[in-house]
Amino acid sequence: MTRASLDKQPHEVASMFDDVAERYDLTNDVLSLGQDRRWRKEVAKAVDARPAQKVLDLAAGTGTSSMPFARAGAYVVPCDFSQGMLRVGKRNNAWLPYTAGDATRLPFKDDVFDAVTISFGLRNVQDTDAALREMHRVTRPGGRIVICEFSHPTWAPFRTVYTEYLMRALPPVARSVSSNPDAYVYLAESIRDWPDQPALAGRLRDAGWSKVAWRNLTGGVVALHRGSRRAENHRVRPGGLLQFPREPARGGFGPRGSRTPPPPSPSPKSNHTWTTESRGTSVPGCGYCRTT
Ligand SMILES: C[S@@+](CC[C@H](N)C(=O)[O-])C[C@H]1O[C@@H](n2cnc3c(N)ncnc32)[C@H](O)[C@@H]1O
Repeated sequence: MTRASLDKQPHEVASMFDDVAERYDLTNDVLSLGQDRRWRKEVAKAVDARPAQKVLDLAAGTGTSSMPFARAGAYVVPCDFSQGMLRVGKRNNAWLPYTAGDATRLPFKDDVFDAVTISFGLRNVQDTDAALREMHRVTRPGGRIVICEFSHPTWAPFRTVYTEYLMRALPPVARSVSSNPDAYVYLAESIRDWPDQPALAGRLRDAGWSKVAWRNLTGGVVALHRGSRRAENHRVRPGGLLQFPREPARGGFGPRGSRTPPPPSPSPKSNHTWTTESRGTSVPGCGYCRTT
């Protein structure tokens, strides 16, 4: 059984996920105490995928994170470099166009996707900045990114309890559910080692993303980061008004064959405030928006 270390050697990471693939989704539900389902709903709201939009779900694993976008009627491409995770996904949802690929060298042309998203994957990529740049390259001008990743609780007493859970309780629980409990020691270590919310926002900006903001879920156990790719080919008219390019043509994204996604359901709306600077404002009455 493989367990990656914090230098995140790609072959070790891929093989660790190969080992946990069969029981990956069940283990997630148990270890997150069912919270993962709620987090995925919030990701769906943030991505706000529309019918026929092209969405890249990077580090998609078995494709569980891709399903909300397919349900919204988008053309979602789940991409991952663990053959084991892709195999389990293909078995469960054969109609999804699973694609093998490394986040730091994506097998897609420039400017292809309306939205790129990555859930619980970026922390495992050896070169975070290269992945952020690659995601920027494959996003069309004006397109968007949403990252869902474990982060750092913002309220100190809760942070202490949570860190205790990660380091003490999680490994024994993982031993009873997972096929590779050591992988969950790596999970705990990699979460502790991950940049906090403002630091990750800075990395996004450095990779070229604009309008970067974040939102905490479950008090900062998870954070959503979002950003946009600048609409590069806008022109400034003589009168000073910005002229934006037309919307690109929709649809026609590769052969679909028998891949028939479920009928679209309306996309849920998000009314939460996002933090754009290191000192932001809380949203009154919101259970899980917290600022840092
Ligand atoms: C914790 S799983 C997340 C799966 C899925 N997104 C979800 O939310 O359930 C992390 C995934 O990241 C993938 N991964 C890690 N590094 C990667 C890389 N450099 N390129 C592509 N996938 C990678 C792993 O293979 C694994 O499937």
